[in-house]
Amino acid sequence: MRISEETINDIRNSANIVDVIGHYIPLIKKGRSYVAVCPFHDDHDPSLSISEDKQIYKCFVCGNGGNCYTFVQNFKKCTFPESVIEVADIIGKPLNIEYTAPKKESRYQHFYDLLNDYIEYTNYLLTATRLGLSAKEYLINRGIDEELINEFGIGYCPEENRVYQNLKAKNYSDEDMIKTNVARLGTNGMNDVFYKRITFPIHDRNGNPVAFTARDYSGFSDSKYINSSETIIYTKGNVLYNFHRAKDSARQNGNVIVCEGVMDVLAYKRAGINNVVATLGTACTKEQVSLLKDLAKTVVLSYDGDKAGKAANMKIGELLLQSGLSIEVIDNDTGLDPDEIISKHGKNALRDLSSRRLSYLDYAIKYYRDIYNLENYSDRKAMTIKVSALIDKLSDPYDRENYANELYELTKIRKIDKDTAVRSDNGRTYRNPELSLDGLTKAEYTILSMMSVSEAAKDIYQKDLGYLLDEDDNLLANLMIDEYRKNGRCQLSRMYDEVNDEGLKSLILSLGTIDSLPEGYDEEVLKGAIKRIKEEIKKRKLDDLRKEIAKYQAVDPEKTNMYLDEYTKLLKELGEK
Ligand code: UTP
Ligand code: MN
Repeated sequence: MRISEETINDIRNSANIVDVIGHYIPLIKKGRSYVAVCPFHDDHDPSLSISEDKQIYKCFVCGNGGNCYTFVQNFKKCTFPESVIEVADIIGKPLNIEYTAPKKESRYQHFYDLLNDYIEYTNYLLTATRLGLSAKEYLINRGIDEELINEFGIGYCPEENRVYQNLKAKNYSDEDMIKTNVARLGTNGMNDVFYKRITFPIHDRNGNPVAFTARDYSGFSDSKYINSSETIIYTKGNVLYNFHRAKDSARQNGNVIVCEGVMDVLAYKRAGINNVVATLGTACTKEQVSLLKDLAKTVVLSYDGDKAGKAANMKIGELLLQSGLSIEVIDNDTGLDPDEIISKHGKNALRDLSSRRLSYLDYAIKYYRDIYNLENYSDRKAMTIKVSALIDKLSDPYDRENYANELYELTKIRKIDKDTAVRSDNGRTYRNPELSLDGLTKAEYTILSMMSVSEAAKDIYQKDLGYLLDEDDNLLANLMIDEYRKNGRCQLSRMYDEVNDEGLKSLILSLGTIDSLPEGYDEEVLKGAIKRIKEEIKKRKLDDLRKEIAKYQAVDPEKTNMYLDEYTKLLKELGEK
């Protein structure tokens, strides 16, 4: 269903961009505007600026900017109509329209249907039949109740071709069951791949089921877990367990916890912590890193509290550090995994543990202090080399400097490396918009900024000046005058949606968010800016006259005199300012 222009405008008018952005990320008040750590790039200082007056935001580092709809589209990676519905919800004016993005029917939809039926049937066997009783009892004993079983699509197949028969009856072909690796052809015909095991479905980033990890619970088999082999729809390194359920919470919290196993995700869930995914083992691929990047700027590692888990925190943390994410590690010295902690010590113990977070470098220093003997020179040297290599991977120069000092305090050994001192901040440039505005631009922006919030300012501009020197500035001034004529007011946030020209869009954003521009309307400041521009006009005129005089003075005394008169008059005016 289409959302009318009127509704789009109405929602934009009623929404306050501060509330909309504040709904997703923490804001810091700064004078009359707000700033935030930008969610669209690896930001360490708050570089996203939000203007309540102008209803516009912009990041001065990565350039992302726009109005409330633009923010939601970029943040939620959704379409324009979806952003309108979302904003309407946030401001408590729900539109009550079902907008479903024109769904691209995946060419693998029949596989997803098959796996969804698989999940539904095995979940039924587990929860609602006598065959599932012992498996269900096992789960309940581990603290996983029926609600959780259903939410996570946990299932059970009691015997060798039970699920196969059911899917067959639903008209799924042997071929598709083999292709999705839920059944296989044996010497005695088709059989289930997983039986006498509890199955945990694994979904892709869009929430489509793609595979299973299946636990032996009765000692029936030697291998604790077996997993789907890779298929057309499943590459192990391309998915994170629980991604689709953790997504909203991770984005809201600005961080995502990464742990090792399904049971750990479930343990966190039971403790009320939802922003958790698992790599299902201690390997992490590039694809999984980019999935994490899509969830949050901060990744919190929570591998098991034993030796192998700590080594995994170290190894995966280093990999993530290079991707520019901010990395923290849960300081788990218990020797237990999160699931064992909740079972042995309860929900509060896991909650407490989950808030004990160290920055990756602090964790690394602690990790190596446990391994090396700091009384011993060779050990101190080895530690210096190891930790320095990690420090070099930090993107923030302050962090590099501080950790280098901290390391030196510990080991009293300086790392020898000439180029660390001159390293730039990863080539990133922070453009401070306040420094880059020249006087004339600032005057024009001041006028535009005041015109956008005050009709009185517009009237004075029309009466006293009427045009601006920069082409884009002038165009925008005319558009604003038009806005007042048509709508009785001017809204930059609406104009942002209406103009198509990139230059104008970016100008609108600058007006909304450059700190050094005066807030609101002040007649004296406006008149000062107009005066500044008039002077510039005169200066330019003087330049022109000088050229004319130079051109004519040898050939046309009459013209020369005329220009000279004008020149002298102007010069006098400028002197009198
Ligand atoms: P863990 O051995 O840490 O399992 O493996 P866990 O989460 O503590 O499980 P419980 O508490 O014993 O039930 C973590 C993940 O690695 C995969 C599984 O997907 C598991 O969730 N794994 C583990 C395997 O694929 N095969 C194995 O033999 C063991
Ligand atoms: Mn465990």
